[in-house]
Amino acid sequence: MSDPLNAEFPKIASLKTVDALNARLAALGLNLRADSDLQTGPDAPMAQPLRLGTRTLGNRWCIHPMEGWDGTDDGRPSDWTRRRWRHFGQSGAKLIWGGEAVAVRQDGRANPHQLMINEKTVGDLRDLRELLIDEHNKATGRTNGLLVGLQLTHSGRFARPNVKDRLEPKILYRHPILDKRYGLDAGLAVVTDDWIEDLIDDFIRAACLAREAGYEFVDIKHCHGYLGHEFLSAHTRPGPYGGNFENRTRFLSRIVEGITRNAPGLLVCVRLSAFDHVPFVGGPGQTGQPADTAGLLPYRYGFGVNPDNPREADLAEPIQFVRLCRQLGVGAINVSCGSPYYNPHIQRPAAFPPSDGYLPPEDPLIGAARQIETTAALKRACGEMLFVGSGYSYLQDYLPHVAQWVVRHGMADIVGIGRMVLSYWRMPGDALAGRPMERKRICRTFSDCTTGPRSGLISGCFPLDELYGSSESGQELRTIKRQIKQQGHAGG
Ligand SMILES: Cc1cc2nc3c(=O)[nH]c(=O)nc-3n(C[C@H](O)[C@H](O)[C@H](O)COP(=O)(O)O)c2cc1C
Ligand code: SF4
Repeated sequence: MSDPLNAEFPKIASLKTVDALNARLAALGLNLRADSDLQTGPDAPMAQPLRLGTRTLGNRWCIHPMEGWDGTDDGRPSDWTRRRWRHFGQSGAKLIWGGEAVAVRQDGRANPHQLMINEKTVGDLRDLRELLIDEHNKATGRTNGLLVGLQLTHSGRFARPNVKDRLEPKILYRHPILDKRYGLDAGLAVVTDDWIEDLIDDFIRAACLAREAGYEFVDIKHCHGYLGHEFLSAHTRPGPYGGNFENRTRFLSRIVEGITRNAPGLLVCVRLSAFDHVPFVGGPGQTGQPADTAGLLPYRYGFGVNPDNPREADLAEPIQFVRLCRQLGVGAINVSCGSPYYNPHIQRPAAFPPSDGYLPPEDPLIGAARQIETTAALKRACGEMLFVGSGYSYLQDYLPHVAQWVVRHGMADIVGIGRMVLSYWRMPGDALAGRPMERKRICRTFSDCTTGPRSGLISGCFPLDELYGSSESGQELRTIKRQIKQQGHAGG
């Protein structure tokens, strides 16, 4: 057996059967298995309906939000965006979690081509939803049981609203590691409480517009290092939005209360980085290693981490957060973790790193299992809340087998897919119908969909989706990857 804490690990494609995968999971000591047989028909675990708010979901598959960096300058969808949303509709999944991160205003965009919601773009966002529903109808013959939400965001520390490679960060507190890593000016001020209160109004206004555009729910994004997530770790911020738990969750509470008042009937959901981890860097041989936090203990710069050992999760506050969500009337939590910027192997377990990443410091199966086990722990603690699980794409050929095992064991209510939907958008429908998997479309976690935007390009599955591979961006990406390889960086 190879060392799980070493980049040497068997590729999933080399595990030829479900039994071989299960043997590997057992050898790693992971509480995760794959079902040998996929059940189909109305009694199949993944085909079971589920009540969400006042609606009934038609099955247990979800499409995670996946941004393409391909909107127009003024925040409308492009043909690339529409094609991706058509695929979301064709997938057969009944829960479309937000489509992609949509900024509630200009200074919150993660890139100059992120979608934005305002009075000028709301009609385009309505059309986007209708396009998805139409495609779903064509692919499955029926639209009932389908729920489409919109993910609302402010990118905070990772905002690049005007120029694709220029950070214009909005920060809640000074972070000793990330500030240095991203070259933040020592004089950069944290945002004021008044600024936060204006932003809360913008989130509420955006939710009202989303309802007007027909979306059944909004996700108030609290993950991946963006602003909502940063509130949860704002231990060192003074005033009403930092310090104790109540203050650090005031942003969410105020938004949800405002939506309940101003957009009655609109369901609110939350995508949550349920645990964080210290930032990673490429160490010897470019293998990822955690930043040194020895001088920063107890660690005050993460959510869901043990302050005495921030490489370890501590779910006490995440559980408290889920209970708060329940009190506020939040319908479901989509469990994610960490950040794709500073610890990508935690958030997107992959065999191959993105260009700004590092070689996997562990077998990515451990990363996938970590997310699945965290969701299961939250479900055990707060059984009445609905949970969507993340981080499944690395399971590749066996994704549907693990999904069925997880749902059968009540470890998540719904299974979401991210990268897999970019390469193989019909996977949920094929699995539900018992059709053979299209092996050549299975995401092999090459990370080009992350490397693309890191290089200022659009995002999509360049290796497996012909349209991206042969596009101008595809050619540019190949050149960029060749240059990176020559420089000896990890992003091969
Ligand atoms: C290209 C790309 C874009 C993404 N965009 C978003 C986003 O807009 N909002 C979000 O919450 N997560 C986003 N994610 C994260 C995914 O939703 C998902 O959590 C992640 O890819 C892990 O799931 P997977 O293993 O199925 O890919 C993105 C991921 C990728 C690769
Ligand atoms: S580029 Fe394609 S194969 Fe690679 S991780 Fe993204 S979706 Fe998967």
